[in-house]
Amino acid sequence: MTTSLPHYHWLASPEGDRYLREATEWRRSGLTDLKIGERLRAVLDAERSALVLTQIDLRDRAATKFADAARMLFTRAGLEQSTSEQIAHHRAGRFAGSPHIVDLCCGIGGDLMAMAALQVPLTAVDLDPVHLFLAEYNARLVDPNVQLTTILADVREVEIDPMAAVFIDPARRTAGGKRVGYQSEPPIDWAIGLAYRANAVAIKTAPGIPHDLLPEGWEMEHISLGPDLKEAVMWSPGLAGEFAGHGQYRVPPHRATVIAGSEVHSIRGSHIDVLHTVEPMPGQWLHDVNPAVTNAGMVWELAEAIEANLIDPQIGFLVSDSPATSPFSTSYRVLEVLPWHEKRVKQALVALDAGPVDIRRRGLAGDVPTITKRLRGTGKQRILLAMTRVDDRPTAIICAVE
Ligand SMILES: C[S@@+](CC[C@H](N)C(=O)[O-])C[C@H]1O[C@@H](n2cnc3c(N)ncnc32)[C@H](O)[C@@H]1O
Repeated sequence: MTTSLPHYHWLASPEGDRYLREATEWRRSGLTDLKIGERLRAVLDAERSALVLTQIDLRDRAATKFADAARMLFTRAGLEQSTSEQIAHHRAGRFAGSPHIVDLCCGIGGDLMAMAALQVPLTAVDLDPVHLFLAEYNARLVDPNVQLTTILADVREVEIDPMAAVFIDPARRTAGGKRVGYQSEPPIDWAIGLAYRANAVAIKTAPGIPHDLLPEGWEMEHISLGPDLKEAVMWSPGLAGEFAGHGQYRVPPHRATVIAGSEVHSIRGSHIDVLHTVEPMPGQWLHDVNPAVTNAGMVWELAEAIEANLIDPQIGFLVSDSPATSPFSTSYRVLEVLPWHEKRVKQALVALDAGPVDIRRRGLAGDVPTITKRLRGTGKQRILLAMTRVDDRPTAIICAVE
């Protein structure tokens, strides 16, 4: 069955809404999907029954991304590609004060919903008619009176208001759903060119985007939700933070942001003198750096902020004599440090009464799931094992998880 716009019009109608509510109640009361399907088919045709079942499943899945998921409407692909609410709100904050915001490639409206809360005139563009319809439906849940113009078109064909701030979240999957790194449709180069046509531009992209694609005067922000790195945003000068100076005096235009619950923590690039590396020792603390910081290339900045040392100029682990209280890293007490040799590491773990082992691999090759299986013990001590390089030597740093 291909789900088309009329199906979604029905789901959004009072009748569709009634069945969605009923089916949700049945699911909450413990009825299996098989039974719910039977009940639905007793009153609806097979197509609409399947639509309702799929939609209540998508709403349940969406609850980790959106507080209001139980009222929103989704497509499966649209949900997977959507920005979660916490990140969308953080990002939308920089658009406050713009006279007009244009959301290009709006999808099912994850970002548009956060923009709808700003009470600014909005324009949303997508070439998928279902996504465009759902973007408007979901944005009106935030503000029923939102000033919103929707345009069903290829974004390359749309005229851009030169006074607008433009946000673009280009598709990063093939038609078959495969992820394609930072390659996107439309491509990043095209999105960067929007800066010549609008007042300001923000581009959501994959965290692995090469830093040298960032044009002069722009900012790149890497964003994690808790420990998980989610995305990078390229901000044109009109929306970028203050990065003083020019040329060699310019502060590196990077920012790492970690969102944890309702708290948002950011650090910015700065000029750092060369830092020395130290050998980690038992009794010290190893700091596992959040991937937003490592991908932003800001491990040195964090080392300075938490008064820790590098173990290697290229590696995202830091070490110091005390644990750090930082949203950008997690600290573990070092129990043992030895050259990386799996058999010797296993012996050391047995001697430490190791139970579950959580491996962080940085700078060494190896298949983490397989090695984890081989090293896992039956003891009581939970272990974090850094499989890494210290001053370029393959090293195991065995730490306690307390
Ligand atoms: C990554 S999703 C957007 C997700 C959205 N920001 C959200 O939070 O829900 C990308 C969207 O771009 C649309 N798209 C891809 N190429 C496009 C193009 N050339 N013109 C307009 N829309 C396009 C897709 O239909 C899809 O809905």
